[in-house]
Amino acid sequence: MQKIRVKIQREEDDSYDIIIGKDLFPQIAAGLKTLNLDKIAIITDSNVKKFYANTFLDMLKKEGLKAVLISFPAGEKSKTRQTKERIEDALMKYQLTKNSVIIALGGGAVLDLAGFVASTYMRGIPYLSIPTTLLAMVDASIGGKTAVDTPFGKNLIGAFYQPERVFIDISVLKTLSDTEYRNGLAEMIKHAVILDAKFFLHLDGYMHTLLTRDEDVIARFIQWSCKIKKVVVQEDEKELSYRKILNFGHTIGHAIEQVSNYRVSHGQAVALGMIAEAKMAEKKGLLNFMESQKIIDLLKKVKFETRIKKLSIEEILLATHYDKKKSQSEVRYVLLERIGKAKMDCTVRKEIAEKVLGDMT
Ligand SMILES: NC(=O)c1ccc[n+]([C@@H]2O[C@H](COP(=O)([O-])OP(=O)(O)OC[C@H]3O[C@@H](n4cnc5c(N)ncnc54)[C@H](O)[C@@H]3O)[C@@H](O)[C@H]2O)c1
Ligand SMILES: [Zn+2]
Repeated sequence: MQKIRVKIQREEDDSYDIIIGKDLFPQIAAGLKTLNLDKIAIITDSNVKKFYANTFLDMLKKEGLKAVLISFPAGEKSKTRQTKERIEDALMKYQLTKNSVIIALGGGAVLDLAGFVASTYMRGIPYLSIPTTLLAMVDASIGGKTAVDTPFGKNLIGAFYQPERVFIDISVLKTLSDTEYRNGLAEMIKHAVILDAKFFLHLDGYMHTLLTRDEDVIARFIQWSCKIKKVVVQEDEKELSYRKILNFGHTIGHAIEQVSNYRVSHGQAVALGMIAEAKMAEKKGLLNFMESQKIIDLLKKVKFETRIKKLSIEEILLATHYDKKKSQSEVRYVLLERIGKAKMDCTVRKEIAEKVLGDMT
C-alpha cells in the first residue's frame, strides 16, 4: 500500500465591510466602474426588480458597465434548487466569468439564493450583497450563510460563502410592508435580548420612533444590531457552537411557523418563541419574572401578538423535535439568565414546555 499526502493548509481572510447609508446606488455603480470587471449580474426577485433593480441596472449601464438582471418570483417558495439552476443557466448564457461579479439585491431569500449561486458558479465567483428588507439588513446579510430549501426542510443545501461587501441602503425601507418591517424588528430585539442589555433599553426607548421609520434613528439601530451579529459570526463563522446563540426564540418560533403552515410571519413566530423561551427560563429559575415581562412589553410595543392562537400545543412541541439540523435527540434551547445574557444547550422538561405554551393560549 502506498500513501500520498496532499497537504492543503489554509489561512484565509474573508473579512468584509458593511456600509450603511442613504441613497447608495449611484455610489455603488460608480465604485463598480473602477473595478475592471467584465460583467455584472444582478440577482433579485420580482418585487425588488420593480422597485429598485430595474433602475439600478440602468445606472450600471449608464456607467458603461455590462450588466444583466436575473429575477425570480418573490417569496420563500422560490428559494429552491430549481430556481438556482435557472439562474445558473442564465449566468452561463450571459457568459459570466470568474472576472465577473454577482450582486444579490433583495431580502433574505434573494441573498441566500444568490450567495449560494455565487459560491458554486465556476467554483465560486465574488458577490456583493444589497439587503433590502430590515431582516436581511440586520441578519441574513451578515455571516455568509447561503442556502436553498428542499422538500425535506429549509436551508438544508448551502454553503458558507462571504460576500465581498454589504451595502445597506436604508432608503429602500420606505417601500417595505409593515409585516416585513416588524420581522426585522423582531430580530433586532432578539440580538438585544441575548447579548446587549443597553441595546435593549435603547430599543425600548426609541421603539415609537423606529415604528415611524425615521431614517436617522433606524440607521443607528441597524448599525448597532449588525455589530452584535458580526461579533457572534466572527467568533464562530461555521456555527459549531457560539453562533447557535442566535437561535434564541427560534426553536419554538420555527415550530410555530411550521405548524401554522407559514401563515404566521417569521417575526411574529419568533416574538412568540422569545416569550415562550423566556417563560421556560423563568420556570427553570434562571430568569426573573420582571425580565421576561420587559421583553413581552417591548414586543407589545411592536404590536406583536403575545398569545398563541388556533394552533395545537402538542403539534408545536412535536415540530421542535423534527428540526432537521438538530444533532441531538433532545431539543436544546437557548435560555436567558437575564436580558443581555443567554445560555446555550439548555434542556427543558416536557411538562414545563407544555405548561408555558398552555399558559400562552
Ligand atoms: N443567511 C442567513 O444568515 C439568514 C438569516 C436570517 C434569515 N435568512 C433567510 O432569509 C429569508 C427571509 O428573508 P426576508 O424576511 O428578507 O424575506 P424575503 O427575501 O422573502 O422578502 C420578503 C418580501 O419583501 C419583499 N421586499 C424585499 N425588499 C423590499 C423592499 N425594499 N420594498 C418592498 N418589498 C420588498 C420581497 O420581494 C418579499 O416579497 C429566509 O429564507 C431565511 O431563511 C437567512
Ligand atoms: Zn429569524
